[in-house]
Amino acid sequence: MQASPITCTIPNLSTRLLVFALNPLVLLNYLRPEPVLPELTMPSIVSIANLSKTYTSGYQALKDVSLDIQRGEILALLGPNGAGKTTLISIICGIVNATAGSVTVAGHDIVSDFRITRSMIGLVPQELTLGAFDTVWNTLCFSRGLFGKKPNPAYLERLLKDLSLWDKKDSELMSLSGGMKRRVLIGKALVHEPTVLFLDEPTAGVDVELRKDMWELVRRLRESGVTIILTTHYIEEAEAIADRVGVINHGQLLLVEDKRALMHKLGKRQLIIELQTPLSALPSALDSWALDLSAEGTHVTYTYDPHKTHTGIDELLQVIRDAGLLLKDIHTTQSSLEDIFVSLVKAKP
Ligand SMILES: Nc1ncnc2c1ncn2[C@@H]1O[C@H](COP(=O)(O)OP(=O)(O)OP(=O)(O)O)[C@@H](O)[C@H]1O
Ligand SMILES: [Mg+2]
Repeated sequence: MQASPITCTIPNLSTRLLVFALNPLVLLNYLRPEPVLPELTMPSIVSIANLSKTYTSGYQALKDVSLDIQRGEILALLGPNGAGKTTLISIICGIVNATAGSVTVAGHDIVSDFRITRSMIGLVPQELTLGAFDTVWNTLCFSRGLFGKKPNPAYLERLLKDLSLWDKKDSELMSLSGGMKRRVLIGKALVHEPTVLFLDEPTAGVDVELRKDMWELVRRLRESGVTIILTTHYIEEAEAIADRVGVINHGQLLLVEDKRALMHKLGKRQLIIELQTPLSALPSALDSWALDLSAEGTHVTYTYDPHKTHTGIDELLQVIRDAGLLLKDIHTTQSSLEDIFVSLVKAKP
């Protein structure tokens, strides 16, 4: 059936029964369409306590993870492949069972109150999991119906426009590009108006311009009160939008910290000195300084902690001049979140 922008098809009865037969969780959600949520006074929206996961293969993917996610924040979870990010998200979303520990969403336990917690959560999975023949519009309408939400074509229209998918609303999913399919998944995750949104690698395979549009969308969602937890391998993505950054490696949460505080605390600065004449080696007078000479011998790099009262720069420049080296230019660089991430993951194998 051709979708219209002003109508919203609810899944027909036989389709609904089929979905229910395949997924009891959806059935329970449908039987309880509008959960009555208690007054939300919890300081954190998601509270994870001592969470561990050992898969049936015997592999321990999560080791005693504890984390409080603040209401309305954007938290970026960083970690190399296989670190346990998707496992953590999947447990919170009720897709994977934890081996030990507990998780609450707005004070509700994800196991005993899963209908409530699931209705509050939107998930954009890492893998592209979409049908082929349905249209974008019908896919979103159907998803909303599964959560027992009344049709809201105006909300859907705004969502599709925000995702730059409005002109594709009547297109079949199989005719979309990979980046467009990922945006449909984001639409599916948002269509029931969740308060917590998990984005597992939301911009993998999305072009640079659309990635920035997506960052804008994530910021707007945060402004509207949605809490966002995202995983990403693009560190600049975390640098651009996250309020806090968590680093996971080998199933352990190495740290969770305010992004600015992290960069302030762990960020090193480098003084790069360009020489007028290339050197084959540094003069012995500079041996006691931990300096790096570039391969061409034209640049000397000094790494220092900018927060120390005594950075040593003044003294170093004097020693360089005394050694008879002539300077051409000087500038400083600040280490990025990426540098910090790489050194953290390397430091704690
Ligand atoms: N169903 C499963 N059965 C057994 N082991 C699994 C299963 N799912 C994940 N794992 C293992 O658990 C570990 C963590 O996987 P997970 O998918 O959580 O990592 P990730 O941090 O999301 O990695 P990526 O960045 O590649 O997405 C990996 O070693 C993975 O092989
Ligand atoms: Mg993953």
